[in-house]
This record gives sequence, C-alpha cells and structure tokens, in this order.
Amino acid sequence: MALSKIKAHDIFEIYTDFRRKGLFTKSLLKPAQSHFGERIVKDGGFNYRNWEPKRSKLAAYVMKGCPNTGIRSGSVVLYLGASHGHTPSYVSDMIGKEGFMFCLDFAPRVMRDLVFLCEARENMAPIMADAHHPETYLDRVSEVDVVFQDIAQRDQAEIFLRNCRAFLKEGGVGLLAVKAKSINIKKDPKQIFAEVRDMIGKEFMITDMRGLEPFEMDHCMIVIKKRPPVEDTPKKESGRNRRRNNNNNNNNSRDSNRRAPVRPRRRR
Ligand SMILES: C[S@@+](CC[C@H](N)C(=O)[O-])C[C@H]1O[C@@H](n2cnc3c(N)ncnc32)[C@H](O)[C@@H]1O
Repeated sequence: MALSKIKAHDIFEIYTDFRRKGLFTKSLLKPAQSHFGERIVKDGGFNYRNWEPKRSKLAAYVMKGCPNTGIRSGSVVLYLGASHGHTPSYVSDMIGKEGFMFCLDFAPRVMRDLVFLCEARENMAPIMADAHHPETYLDRVSEVDVVFQDIAQRDQAEIFLRNCRAFLKEGGVGLLAVKAKSINIKKDPKQIFAEVRDMIGKEFMITDMRGLEPFEMDHCMIVIKKRPPVEDTPKKESGRNRRRNNNNNNNNSRDSNRRAPVRPRRRR
C-alpha cells in the first residue's frame, strides 16, 4: 500500500508532508489551479497546494510555531492588504466553500489580478478601498470572525485597531503582520514591536506575538482576541438569581441577538 505523503498539520485547515517540512492547503478548486506557480501535490484523491513561508507572512507565522491562526473551515475573514491575492488564495482554501473572505486593497495595479482570482474562487470578494477609512466600506463588509492585516504603512497599528473595532465580532481573532521598517526605519525593530503590542493590548487581549525571521526580516505577527467590553461582562450571580434568570430566558435571546454575517451576492 502506498504511504500517504500529506498529513494534517497541528494547525486547523493546514497540511504538511511526512517530513513535516512543507506547508500545504487542500485546494478549494477542482481541478486544482496553480495561481502563482506553486507546486500541486495529489494525495488520497485530493489536491494540495504547496505554501511557501518566504512568500507569505501567514505561512511564516505557522512555520514559527503559531499556536492558532483562528481561521477555520466556514470562517468569515476580512483580509486587509490582499494585493494580487497570493496569501488570500491559501486562506480561501482554509475557509472552504462555507467560508467567505472580503479582500481589500487600495492599489489599482493589483486589483485586476485580485478580481480574476475572486472570479475563480467564489468565497472571495475584492474591495478597492483605503483601509484607513473603514467607514467607506461599512456597507460592503459584514461582521467577521477574523481580521488579517498585512499593510506596510507607518500607522499600521491604528489601521488594524479601527478595522477590528468596526468589523471583528466579540471573541473573534485579529492577526497583524507588523513591518517595523515601515513604522520607523531607525528604531530597533524589537522596540517597535513592543510599542505596537502595548498600544493594541490597551484595547484587545494579546494572545500571541512572534518574530517571522528567517522568512521575513524585521517582521512580527501580533495576534489578538476581541474580548467583550467590560460593562457587558456578566457579573457573578447568586444561585437563586441565576435560576430565576434561566427561567425567564428560555427563549434563546442570546442567540437571537447575534448579528449574522451578511454574505454579499455575487454579481454575474
Ligand atoms: C505586502 S503587500 C500584501 C501581500 C499579501 N498580503 C500576500 O501575502 O499575498 C501589502 C499590500 O497592502 C496594500 N496597502 C497598503 N496600504 C493600504 C491601505 N491604506 N489600504 C489598503 N491597502 C493598502 C498595498 O497596495 C499592497 O498590495
């Protein structure tokens, strides 16, 4: 019997080879397409796309031992700085056909490729907008499970905060790829990473932070969880009150209060 080459990685929706050296995603498209010249490996009736950590900060983060990307099959993702769609194409494999991803970039020169990719991959939608101004795309993006940002701007941390405030659901995960040289070319990257962590940590819970060397120099990934605002945190109740509230709340009001993600209809 032939040995299986591809195995599930410890991280959800990611695969690796039997030497645990390479990263792969299971191709959403059948037959698989190599959008960016990546190697396709067939195994057990599935097609897997090889994912190079030197070309993707998310793959570099996984290679550096990330504990959790927050991205699951069925997740709704806001991807800021989608560019030609290289890393977004792998996220599209990860979230699968039940998931959805808003892919935002402000550069017309990358939009053409991104639009073609979104035509091929139905779980991706392109949005041309400036991530500084979430209010300009509020009507086009729903609440999301994950915000991923890879934008080389001086105020990248502020951009991330604004978008997490506007779109990330409570309990959702945000991943910020920090490029130190874009913030200050003279300062020690470690100091910049610490400053960004402190700034974001005032508002969101930092769950992980790690450098991306040797795959990306002077970059780190900061991961946050959106915690409920303090005033919404349930207070400890006495046993009697808890029983009384449970009896009054048998109508599942918590579920009915949740804002369901609005998935835009694709225009044909
Ligand atoms: C490093 S590239 C992203 C590469 C991509 N994440 C990948 O791995 O395939 C950064 C992208 O961010 C975009 N960008 C920079 N500033 C932006 C802004 N204010 N709003 C939207 N996109 C921006 C650039 O146009 C560029 O395409």
